[in-house]
Amino acid sequence: MTKQKGKIIAGVLAPHPPHLVYGENPPQNEPRSECGWEELRWAYERCRKSVLALKPDVLLVHSPHWMTVVGHHVLGLPHFKGISVDPIFPHLFRYSYDLKVDVELSLAIAEAGKQKGLITQVMKNPDFRVDYGTICALHLMNPAWDIPIVSISSNNSPYYFSNEVGQEQMLQLGDATREAIEKSGKRAVLLASNSLSHRHFTTEAEIPEDMSKEHIYHHGQYLWDMQILKLMREGKAKELLAVCPEFFDMASAEVKAGALAWMLGALGIPDYPATVHGYGSVIGTGNAVVEWRAPEVRL
Ligand SMILES: [Fe+2]
Repeated sequence: MTKQKGKIIAGVLAPHPPHLVYGENPPQNEPRSECGWEELRWAYERCRKSVLALKPDVLLVHSPHWMTVVGHHVLGLPHFKGISVDPIFPHLFRYSYDLKVDVELSLAIAEAGKQKGLITQVMKNPDFRVDYGTICALHLMNPAWDIPIVSISSNNSPYYFSNEVGQEQMLQLGDATREAIEKSGKRAVLLASNSLSHRHFTTEAEIPEDMSKEHIYHHGQYLWDMQILKLMREGKAKELLAVCPEFFDMASAEVKAGALAWMLGALGIPDYPATVHGYGSVIGTGNAVVEWRAPEVRL
C-alpha cells in the first residue's frame, strides 16, 4: 500500500518570551509568578485549542536562539533532556525539559535541504542544551509535550550576508521542509518562534509581572507591527515577504532570524487570511500569536 501524502495542517507565528511561560507557572519552570501578559497567554490558549484539535503527528519549530554559523541544523537524536535557562532572564526561566524528536523527519528535512544546495547538519550530541526559543514555543503550543517534535536552527545568513539573501535561503529551507513532510505521510504543524518588533526596555520593573509597567517600546514600532499584521490578516504573504527586509531594519524585528520566512515558504506563500489570536508587548517588544490554516484543512 502506498503511503498517504503528508501535509502541513497549520503554521503558527509562535513568539517565545520566557515571560509567558513564567506567567503560566507550569511545574517544569522553577521561578513562580503571580500572573502577567494575559493577552498573549490567552491568545496561545485559543491557538492551542484550534491547532491541537487537528491532531497533528509532529510539531516543527524554527528558533532564533539556536543560532548556527555554518548551515541549518536539526536535532538528530530521539530524546533530549535537561534544563533550559534564559541567559537574559534566568530569574524567570529555568525550565526542565524532556522532549522526543521525530528523527526520521528531521533527517529527511536535512537531506531535502542538501538536495537544494543548502548546507545542513544533524546535531547528535546527547548533552546538547535545547534553546529557550524552541522550548517556550513548544510549551505554549502543547504543554502536555505528547507530540514528537522537529527542531531547526537559525542559520546566520541574514546577519552575515544581507536580509534578502537570508530570507531567500529560509524560503528554500521551507520548500525542503514541505517536501520532506509530504513524503513522511504525517500531519505537521509549523511553529515560527519569533517576536515582531524587538526594541525593548533595558531595565526591568521590580515585580517583573507588574503590568502597569508593560507597554510597546514606541509608537513607530507599533505602527510597523500593525502594518505587518494587516498583511497577514489580508492573506498577503507575498507582499509581507517583500516588506520584511525593511521591517527587520526599522523595528529591529526578530523575524529577521528567518522563522517566519521558513514557515511562509513551507506553506507555499499563502494567499489566504491568517487568524490573529492576539497581540501584546513583552518588555516593550511586539508579539503576536497568528495561525495560518489552509482553507481545505478540516477537522
Ligand atoms: Fe527571542
